[in-house]
Amino acid sequence: MIRILVTGAKGQLGQSFQQLSTAYPQWHFRFLDRATLDICDPKAVQHVFSEGNYNYCINCAAYTAVDKAESEPTAAFSINRDATALLAAACRKFNCFFIHFSTDYVYAPQANVPLRENGAVLPTGVYGNSKRAGEIHALWHCPDTLILRTSWVYSEFGNNFLKTMLRLADQRESVQVVYDQVGTPTYAPDLAAAVLHILEGAEKGAFGKKELRGIYNYSNEGVCSWFDFAHAIFDQSGKSCRTVPIRSAAFPTAAIRPPYSVLDKAKIRQTFGLEIPYWRESLENCLKKL
Ligand SMILES: NC(=O)c1ccc[n+]([C@@H]2O[C@H](COP(=O)([O-])OP(=O)(O)OC[C@H]3O[C@@H](n4cnc5c(N)ncnc54)[C@H](OP(=O)(O)O)[C@@H]3O)[C@@H](O)[C@H]2O)c1
Repeated sequence: MIRILVTGAKGQLGQSFQQLSTAYPQWHFRFLDRATLDICDPKAVQHVFSEGNYNYCINCAAYTAVDKAESEPTAAFSINRDATALLAAACRKFNCFFIHFSTDYVYAPQANVPLRENGAVLPTGVYGNSKRAGEIHALWHCPDTLILRTSWVYSEFGNNFLKTMLRLADQRESVQVVYDQVGTPTYAPDLAAAVLHILEGAEKGAFGKKELRGIYNYSNEGVCSWFDFAHAIFDQSGKSCRTVPIRSAAFPTAAIRPPYSVLDKAKIRQTFGLEIPYWRESLENCLKKL
């Protein structure tokens, strides 16, 4: 039986895996959250791996507070770099494939061409740099590593842009949202489903370690600004709140966001035969669950 360890199980992605795991009764999943496995604790990590005999470790744990990271670099690096290295080293030692998530923030800012995995990296803020360091450490400590770079993650779980917009819509008549940052939202359950589709294919022999190893982009399909996303959230959820477009300069944040971060998904689509849902369809699915 395939044994899968999922860390950071109470985050958006972690909960998405928990929900989807019921469709895979043939696999044994173990879900550990911060209380049951602090990935920064070397002894705890060793203990979990030594007793588990896992085939895959899916690391959903991360420091994700992008702005707060600017004033908490030690915490961001300790979770996103050092703990990632710990997990990757444990995977190598215990012959387990490591699956890890990174971000569009690692890419060098580009005008308006979708970002490809082999494109230049140049993270700006603490969060982006800590995630890039995590990528490097993961690949260095464990050759059997699959990294999925994703963007604008939202879901029915936890806190995210969608939940903030729905809350604001109930409190205000209008909300100002930036229109000069363009990208693609990622519905966390779609990302989790993509990973499980890839593992299913690997277990059936459709692709081997050669394909599984390395870096792949994943987000939903399509392109929008945060303004468009907010507008679609109000529209699709029937909220009467008005969306007011503003420039990023009018909404300063501690961390600088990339103006264009559309991910090119050709590599993951072609390698694993994935069909990726369009962002508006996934938004509709998410709203139905709320
Ligand atoms: N959210 C986005 O927009 C976005 C965009 C691009 C990439 N990503 C990447 O996608 C992945 C999943 O993100 P997400 O949105 O699911 O994040 P999330 O909802 O913030 O979940 C992260 C989880 O990690 C846990 N965690 C933090 N430190 C830990 C530790 N030391 N040990 C164990 N667990 C720990 C958190 O627990 P606590 O709640 O207790 O801290 C939280 O449950 C991450 O790698 C993230 O960097 C996210």
